[in-house]
Amino acid sequence: MSDQTEKIPIALVVNGRRHLATVEPRRSLVDFLRHDLGLVGTHVGCEHGVCGACTVMLNGRTVRSCLLFAAQADGEEVLTIEGLGTDEALHPLQQAFQRHHALQCGFCTPGMILAALELLRDNPDPTDEEIRAGLGGNLCMCTGYVNIVRAVRAAARGEKVK
Ligand code: FES
Ligand code: FES
Repeated sequence: MSDQTEKIPIALVVNGRRHLATVEPRRSLVDFLRHDLGLVGTHVGCEHGVCGACTVMLNGRTVRSCLLFAAQADGEEVLTIEGLGTDEALHPLQQAFQRHHALQCGFCTPGMILAALELLRDNPDPTDEEIRAGLGGNLCMCTGYVNIVRAVRAAARGEKVK
């Protein structure tokens, strides 16, 4: 009988940097990012694919990293919030969230911003309804969403999102 906890080697690129690791087959991608790589900007909320706090990009599309195994990212490219901007040079969406008071506790914000990034790449000039629909899979317990929509609209209209 095979050993279910036997670790397997993976190689992936996270925020432009290549990582080689060995993981248990059941290690979730979010736990791998947070605990193995120390990238704690990706948050864990429901762990059931409902809240969107764990949203990252896999090969340029958003995914819920609580629902993926790290092994499924083998050979792929992951972008987390840490890969988006720096303290000195925030990404335009991060600037817009800050400027428009679109976060309170900030727990949802990393996933919200990555969802917004995907939305604006697909639709650079969304209506407020389209912004709400695009972020509908990301839950926020603090803000009432008004300033989040305002921030995404401002980022879409004011600055180039890349
Ligand atoms: S923690 Fe992954 S969707 Fe909630
Ligand atoms: S800012 Fe607190 S959950 Fe959204």
